[in-house]
Amino acid sequence: MGIIVRFCYNPSIMQKILLSGVKPTGRSHIGNYFGAMKQWLSLQDEYQCYLFIADYHSLNFIQNADEMNKNILDLALDYLAIGLDPNKVTMFKQSDVSEHTELAWIFDTITTMPYLERAHAFKDAKAKNKEIVVGTFNYPMLMASDILLYSPDTVPVGQDQKQHVEITRDTAEKFNRIFNTETFNLPEPMILSEVAVVLGIDGQKMSKSYGNTISLFASDDEIQKQVMAIVTDSGSEIPKNVYAIHALIKPKEELDALYEANKGKYKILKDALVTDLIAFIAPMRERRKAFENDIENVKNILKMGGEKAKAVAGAKMEEVRRAIGVSL
Ligand code: ADP
Ligand code: TRP
Repeated sequence: MGIIVRFCYNPSIMQKILLSGVKPTGRSHIGNYFGAMKQWLSLQDEYQCYLFIADYHSLNFIQNADEMNKNILDLALDYLAIGLDPNKVTMFKQSDVSEHTELAWIFDTITTMPYLERAHAFKDAKAKNKEIVVGTFNYPMLMASDILLYSPDTVPVGQDQKQHVEITRDTAEKFNRIFNTETFNLPEPMILSEVAVVLGIDGQKMSKSYGNTISLFASDDEIQKQVMAIVTDSGSEIPKNVYAIHALIKPKEELDALYEANKGKYKILKDALVTDLIAFIAPMRERRKAFENDIENVKNILKMGGEKAKAVAGAKMEEVRRAIGVSL
C-alpha cells in the first residue's frame, strides 16, 4: 500500500517563539537597545514575538500614577520607534494579562526563601542596607511567570538578566517535577557576548539607575552633552570609553581608521561620535514623532496585543490549574 505524505506549511506552527520585556522605569538608553531590543527587531520576521511592558515590575520603583502612565506610553513609543511592527509582534502591557500575577503566586508556593535570597537584585539591595519591599524579593517569580506563560524558545536580554532566566528554568523544572507534568518548556536566554554589557559614559555598566546613559531618543543637545561627559583617561591615545560606545554604531574598519588617524585628539573623536549617534538615532526619532501624534493608535496597539497575549496566557493557565488540581 502506498503512503501519501502531505506537506502542510503553516508558519504559525513552525515559528519559534521569542519573549522579552522592559520595565517602564525611565528613558530607554543605547544599552537597552543594543543589549536586548535590537535582537527583537532582527528576529521579528523569524520568530513569533511577545514583547511586553513590564509595568507591574516597575511598581516596585514607580509609585505615582501620572509617572507610571507616562513611562508606559513612552516605552510603547520606543518599541514602535525602533521599528517593531505591531502587525508582526504581539506588543502588550503586563498588567493587561492578569495570568502573570496569578502564576507568580503559584510559583511563590513552590519556591523557598533561601533560594530567592541568592538573587543578585535582592543581595545588592541588602548589601546597600536598603529597605526591601516584598515585590523586589519576589521579582524573579513574576519574571518566571512572564516568560513561562508563553512557552518561548528564546529570551533576548542583557547579561544582568541571565540569573533571572536561570531562576525561570529552575522554577519550570521544579513545577514539572512536583506536579509530575510537562506543563512548562525550559527557555534559553539569548545574550550576545559583544553587547552583553554595554558600558556607560563612566565606563561602568550603562544603566538608568547609574545616571551614565546615552538616551536612545535624546535631542541633539543632550547627545552632545552626554558624549562630552564621557570619561576619558588622559594619557591613552585611544579613549577607550568613547571607542566602546562608538563601536556599537560604526563598522570596526572605519572605526579603527578614524581612531588611528586621530590618536589623542579626544575632542575630534567625541565630535565624530556625536555626528554618528545623531545619524543613527534620526530615523527612529522620526518614527517616534509620527506615533506621538497618534497616541490613541498606540493605546489601541497595546490593547489588541493584550487580548492576543491573554488568549495564550489563559490557555497555559488552564493547564497549570489542571496540573495543580484546582480545576474541577
Ligand atoms: P536599566 O539597568 O537601565 O534599568 P533595564 O533593567 O530596564 O535597564 O533593562 C532592560 C533590558 O536591557 C534588559 O534586557 C537588560 O538586560 C538590558 N540592558 C540594560 N542595560 C544594559 C547594558 N548596559 N548592556 C546590555 N544590556 C542592557
Ligand atoms: N527583569 C527585566 C529587566 O529588569 C524585565 C523583565 C521582566 C523581563 N520580565 C521579563 C525581561 C521577562 C525578559 C523576560 O530588565
